Amino acid sequence: MPELATQRVTIPSLRARKAAGPKIVCLTAYDHPTAAILDEAGVDLVLVGDSLGMVVLGYETTVPVTMDEMIHHTKAVTRAVRRALVVGDMPYFSFHLGADETVRNASRFLKEAGAAAVKIEGASKKRLRLVEAMVEAEIPVMGHVGLTPQSIHGLGQFKVRGKEPEEARRIVEDASNLEKAGAFSVVLESVPLEVAKTVTESVGIPTIGIGAGPYCDGQVLVVHDMLGYSTGYLPRFVRKYADLHATISRAVREYAADVRAGRFPDDATSYHLKPPAAAGAATEPAPRLKKRAKA
Ligand code: KIV
Repeated sequence: MPELATQRVTIPSLRARKAAGPKIVCLTAYDHPTAAILDEAGVDLVLVGDSLGMVVLGYETTVPVTMDEMIHHTKAVTRAVRRALVVGDMPYFSFHLGADETVRNASRFLKEAGAAAVKIEGASKKRLRLVEAMVEAEIPVMGHVGLTPQSIHGLGQFKVRGKEPEEARRIVEDASNLEKAGAFSVVLESVPLEVAKTVTESVGIPTIGIGAGPYCDGQVLVVHDMLGYSTGYLPRFVRKYADLHATISRAVREYAADVRAGRFPDDATSYHLKPPAAAGAATEPAPRLKKRAKA
């Protein structure tokens, strides 16, 4: 049974969607107005991804993104969201100094920023222990396997993972281990659709795909990519639903032309002095207001 449009999305309701559908709709957001639009449009999961670094802050990779940047943007998003579940992304080096530091950083997303869960990349044995530690501390965790962009320097480039049988087997095992460690959901990024299908059929938690084909329990895209508002390279898995770059560019050029030609501002977009008679009348307070002031 689909949730009512106004019913808050919860982790149990997301888990139920794996069995009963409908598919989980997820997009990233990093600011208040975008998050409000997504929430009003019925998006189920809003991910404040560390893709923030690349699409909003202008970094070349996600590696430089800091905890403080993530918290700042997550706060803007949670102030707007009424229904969707907000997930904050653990940035690079927020979980590399041990379980205590990881739990402390993860808790900031819930306590300071108002998110309901965190996402963490990877599924090594060490990473799984961190997932357990966060879950133990009542922090819901979303896993992320396949292409993990924070490992870019080790990987050398962003490319599809799991095309070879050994790597495909490891991705299936990673997702299963994340489920065992207590993750409530797992992102599958840039993996062959056959691998995503196997994972989706073999785990009991919802899979959220990005470049992972149609068999996942839900889908996520970077909102700037699907709106045509990002400046960099667009992976093949992105479908552009709008061309905001062109729309904004057209509007800005039109504004610039109007300013230069003296067409903006015009009378309708300017203020006038009060006419003398109206100004006099307005200085007399209304009787009702006078009475109130006395009381
Ligand atoms: O940072 C991000 O936006 C992500 C999604 C692409 C899953 O991790």
